[in-house]
This record gives sequence, C-alpha cells and structure tokens, in this order.
Amino acid sequence: MAKVTIIGAGQTGATTAHWLAERELADLVLVDIVEGMPQGKALDLMEAMPVIGSDAKIVGSNDYQDTAGSDIVVITAGLPRKPGMSRDDLLEANTNIIRASVENSLQASPDAILIILTNPLDVMSQAAMIISGLPRERVIGQAGILDSARMRAFVAMELDISVRNIHCYVLGGHGDSMVPLTRHSNVAGVPLNVILSPERLEAIVERTRKGGGEIVGLLQTGSAFYAPSAALAQMVDAILNDRHLVVPASVNLDGEYGLSGIFFGVPAQLGANGLEKVLEYDLNDEEQAALEASAEHVKETIDELKEKLQIAA
Ligand code: NAI
Ligand code: 2OP
Repeated sequence: MAKVTIIGAGQTGATTAHWLAERELADLVLVDIVEGMPQGKALDLMEAMPVIGSDAKIVGSNDYQDTAGSDIVVITAGLPRKPGMSRDDLLEANTNIIRASVENSLQASPDAILIILTNPLDVMSQAAMIISGLPRERVIGQAGILDSARMRAFVAMELDISVRNIHCYVLGGHGDSMVPLTRHSNVAGVPLNVILSPERLEAIVERTRKGGGEIVGLLQTGSAFYAPSAALAQMVDAILNDRHLVVPASVNLDGEYGLSGIFFGVPAQLGANGLEKVLEYDLNDEEQAALEASAEHVKETIDELKEKLQIAA
C-alpha cells in the first residue's frame, strides 16, 4: 500500500486522514507537535476501520522517522491568526512551520510529492518550493478544488440539480480576489449565465469568493475542514492512482496565463509524478484582467515572503 504522511493533525489534517482511510487509499501517518493528540486521533481512526471495512493503517506520531518512505506528504500544519497578531506575524510564523515540515519530511522521504494546505495558501506553497528546492511538478497547493466545490454546491442548492451535473471553475489566488469563471462553468453543458439570472449568478459568485469567511463566521472557533480535506483527498487519489485528472490547483506558473514564478490557481493535470501540465483557457479581456488583478495580490505577499527568506524579489 502507498504511504501518505499528513503534517498537522488538527481539523483539516485529521479529516483528510478520515477520507483517505475510508477509501483505503494508503497507509497514513499523522504528525503534529502536540504530544498524544496525533496518536489519539490515529488510534481512534484505526478503531473505526473494522466498522467500515478498511485495512488502512493509521499511525500518529511526533517523530518524522515514522514518516520515512512516504509517497506523498500533505502539509496542513499552521497557526490561525490570533488577536494582536498582524498578517505579517502570521506569514512569518507559518513560513517557519512550513520550513520545519518540509525539511523534516524530505529528510525522511526524499522522493515525496508535497501537497500544501496551510494559509496563505499560494504563498505557503511558494515557500515550500523555495525551501525544498523541488521542481514545480512536486509541490502543489490545494485551494481551487475547494473554491470550485463551494460554487458547485451553491449552484446545486439554487437549481436543485445533482452536483454531478455541475461543473465550476474557480481560478486565481485563494482569497477574495479569486476568479470564478462563469463563462466556462456549466450545468450539464448549459452555461451558467444561460441557466441563472445575472442577479442570481452574481450572488453565487460573491458567496463563493467569501465562502471561507462564511464558515469562519458560523463556526467561530476555526475554519472549514470537511470540504478542504475532501479536496486534499481528491488530489492524493489523483496522484496515487495516476489518474491524469484535471483539477483547479495552485501551481508554480511558467508563462501560463502570462504569469511566471508565482503559485496561482489554474487547471492542473495531476498524475503519478505530481503536476503533469497546466491547461490554458481561452480567456476574454475581462477574465484575463481579473486573473491579473488576483495575481497582483499574490505577488505582493510573495515579495514579502522572499524578503523574509532573504531572496531577491
Ligand atoms: P488546526 O489548528 O485545527 O490544525 C493545525 C495543526 O497544526 C495543529 O494541530 C497544530 O498543533 C499543528 N502544528 C502547528 N505547528 C506545527 C508544526 N511545526 N509541525 C506539525 N504540526 C504543527 O487548523 P486547520 O483547521 O487544520 O487548518 C490548518 C491550516 O490550513 C491553516 O493554515 C488554515 O488556514 C489552512 N486551511 C487552508 C485551506 C485551503 O483551502 N488552502 C482550507 C482550510 C484550512
Ligand atoms: C477556507 O477557504 C480557511 O482557506 C480556508 O475555508
């Protein structure tokens, strides 16, 4: 069986383990700095396996030696922004966490593919690539599956049509400037702007952009975890099963969409070697301008990151 390590056994990490174990996709190692917690969650999951009929093995640990030989390392470790903490403080704290997670993971599993979830997502993915020195094929950020799934869920709720018929594509940075591509999104082939009124479509686009905040507002004590971890599980499945699956994901661009050297949400084909290719939509001027505006937001924070890592921007 393949081996997948999940760094950070909090809400998203543990729920990712749950989805993966249920599908019997891989043996799993849950790592956290908190002692006892990953061990407890792993044991609880192991005790669920007889009920659901999965032979996946799940180990909890505070020691990277247990992660040796992993095919994929999923990084969800991170701090939320706390009262009194600036965005800059959070960037610094999470960059340090990414550094520790990446360096320790690759020492134990030099051939692993990294999937990043920690926020700010596009920037933390960039940090993981810089720190690891890995080629872009092996560092992929999760955001677009989640953002697109939120949009799909809202369209399904509006029209009472199966989610299976609804295809939405949200590109760009993982933040309020993300770009829901309504012209390319459709319900069983019918474009969204034909099946929905302009007002309803705009409301869904706005709700999608603010989808993360909507959940934070409701939960009060944390952010979304079921949908983000389902998205991570889909990426792991695409890689382990060499599916050549195209999903919206944050990858390091190399000229695609006129952008280079930044992690940004685009349609990415995933297979056994990680990123296989980036698909390019034929965008109109308005869509291209929206993507460029979103890229500006990401670039600003990447410049701050490079300053922290003392790399020329
Ligand atoms: P959480 O607080 O429940 O879990 C984070 C875990 O990381 C904690 O258990 C903590 O002890 C652990 N941790 C901290 N430093 C560590 C280190 N150096 N090594 C190992 N573990 C360490 O948070 P949650 O909800 O799981 O979110 C995790 C991250 O994912 C956050 O940055 C969050 O903003 C981000 N996120 C990103 C999404 C996306 O779509 N990109 C969606 C949802 C969350
Ligand atoms: C979300 O979109 C917090 O980035 C996370 O739910």
